[in-house]
Amino acid sequence: MAARVFSGVQPTGNIHIGNYLGALKQFVDLQTGNDCIYCIVDLHAITVPKDPSELNSAILDVAALYLAVGLDPGKSIVFVQSDVSGHAELSWILMCNSYTGELSRMTQFKDKSRGNESAPTGLFAYPVLMAADILLYDTDVVPVGNDQKQHIELTRDIAIRVNNKYGEDTFVVPEGRFLKEGARIMALDDPTAKMSKSAENPHSSISLLDDEGKIKKSIMRATTDSDGEIRFDPGSKPGVSNLITIYGAFAGMGAADVEREWAGRGYGDFKKALVEVTIDSLRPIQERYAEIRSSGDLITTLKDGAERAGAIAEKVMVRVKDRFGLGAAG
Ligand code: AMP
Ligand code: TRP
Repeated sequence: MAARVFSGVQPTGNIHIGNYLGALKQFVDLQTGNDCIYCIVDLHAITVPKDPSELNSAILDVAALYLAVGLDPGKSIVFVQSDVSGHAELSWILMCNSYTGELSRMTQFKDKSRGNESAPTGLFAYPVLMAADILLYDTDVVPVGNDQKQHIELTRDIAIRVNNKYGEDTFVVPEGRFLKEGARIMALDDPTAKMSKSAENPHSSISLLDDEGKIKKSIMRATTDSDGEIRFDPGSKPGVSNLITIYGAFAGMGAADVEREWAGRGYGDFKKALVEVTIDSLRPIQERYAEIRSSGDLITTLKDGAERAGAIAEKVMVRVKDRFGLGAAG
């Protein structure tokens, strides 16, 4: 039987090449032979305050990018999280089956809250909502970047815990899917930190919608080192290794092949070639994006996606509520 695949991206800021190489590219590859559901997780985005009209347009931006990178609504379900009520509903049930101790250990929460007592409760509960997203669709496989490993583990722990208490077939226990190359793209200005949507320096990341001038500037300025050798060694050469990973991912080559191709040559030439391959890879995405974002079909696609996702979610919610003895019908 085809595996059920589920993943989501937050509608915050511009999607960057880390999101693309770590997550979106996998989403596209998995479409053949699997039963895929891809979500724009808008409820996750409001864990930090958002301007409503900006949020709404960011939702449509990510939806258009999903389609522009190659997600095909004929093959996959594409929808917005808050259009299916089961996510928030299941999230509550899972919150009652997760521990404050395990949530306190989530590194994302620790990084974002920094012990601040007025951090929103939603930021604390964020991974439980993510678990609900995944478990709501009897998901087998979750393609994500490495930074989500801890959240996937938590999802598995909660699923197993509930199954032990309420019956083995309450939830499907999912597996994360992490790429060997691209699962963690680092910031261009600081290759010891991951490329992130929230960085202050615009040259720390490359957005999928950046123009050629911006791409060139960001790559030519990227932090390297002084030994001049194009060698993959993330421990002692994090900057160059990151550029090798990006080059390889766009050119469809492993790190070892990139090293071989560039042996004995300089950083300047390598960066120029990286600019070329990045621009060539992003250009078709940007062209499709412009068309899709301005077309009225986008909303219809998302509504249709929400209906199809909702039908699957509803069945799972009936089963979960039955196992827990919730509701009048039980
Ligand atoms: P987010 O931007 O947090 O909604 O992330 C969307 C997807 O991109 C998730 O699967 C992340 O794991 C992945 N991702 C985010 N940043 C990176 C990165 N720097 N390298 C690789 N994957 C990433
Ligand atoms: N937490 C994920 C991130 O920040 C986004 C996300 C929310 C997600 N729900 C999900 C990813 C379900 C995979 C499956 O990247």
